[in-house]
Amino acid sequence: MSNATIDPQRPVGELAREVPAYTRVFEAAGIDYCCGGDASLAMACDQAGVNLDDVREDLADVQTDDAQAIDWDDLADLIDDVVETHHQYLREELPALEGLVRKVARVHGENHPELEALRAAYLALAPAMKAHIREEEEEVFPIIEKLDRGDSLSDAERRRLREVIEEMEADHEETAELLDLIAELTDGYTVPADACPSYESMIERLDALERDTHEHVHKENNVLFVEAETKLSDGVESRNS
Ligand SMILES: [Fe+2]
Ligand SMILES: [Fe+2]
Repeated sequence: MSNATIDPQRPVGELAREVPAYTRVFEAAGIDYCCGGDASLAMACDQAGVNLDDVREDLADVQTDDAQAIDWDDLADLIDDVVETHHQYLREELPALEGLVRKVARVHGENHPELEALRAAYLALAPAMKAHIREEEEEVFPIIEKLDRGDSLSDAERRRLREVIEEMEADHEETAELLDLIAELTDGYTVPADACPSYESMIERLDALERDTHEHVHKENNVLFVEAETKLSDGVESRNS
């Protein structure tokens, strides 16, 4: 089947899961495929204010045998990928970028009053993300790994897993709102004409943080949590039959 025939009613999260390279097209078009992954391609294009046919053409140009494809069926491997790729990056980048955001706000605040709001948004975002990844590693992933191994879960563990997945998804929404605010305050990560190298580096790294977070949240919301919930429901059915 040719990509040009992609059904506009298919959810964007599902498309991104099937062909990871599609996320580059979604990023470029400003389409939300992570927290808004349940929206159809047509609806997501409408929300982003982009032309559906143009996006379908861009998707058709993507090489679907892209090497970055991950074996989504193995949840333990997916958890390792999330921790090693995204959580590790955040552990290093969040504190380093915090120093830079503070410094740029201090030095350039007079000419760029929006930097005070940017600093405040970042200082709300960074500790929340740090707490979030710790909770995933300590509370959420161990139960999913147990489920993935086929070990039976107690009723309390099943309830807890459903609860924490909902909490994590709510955290993702809050993170997305703060990142949207940061994108707005930097005029879509535009480097101003009077920026020094530190300012430029801050903008580039904030942009990279947003892109990485989209990919990260997509892997959790649209793959890991969906698969865990499917396994939970399967377990209930087989116990009741
Ligand atoms: Fe995570
Ligand atoms: Fe997460």
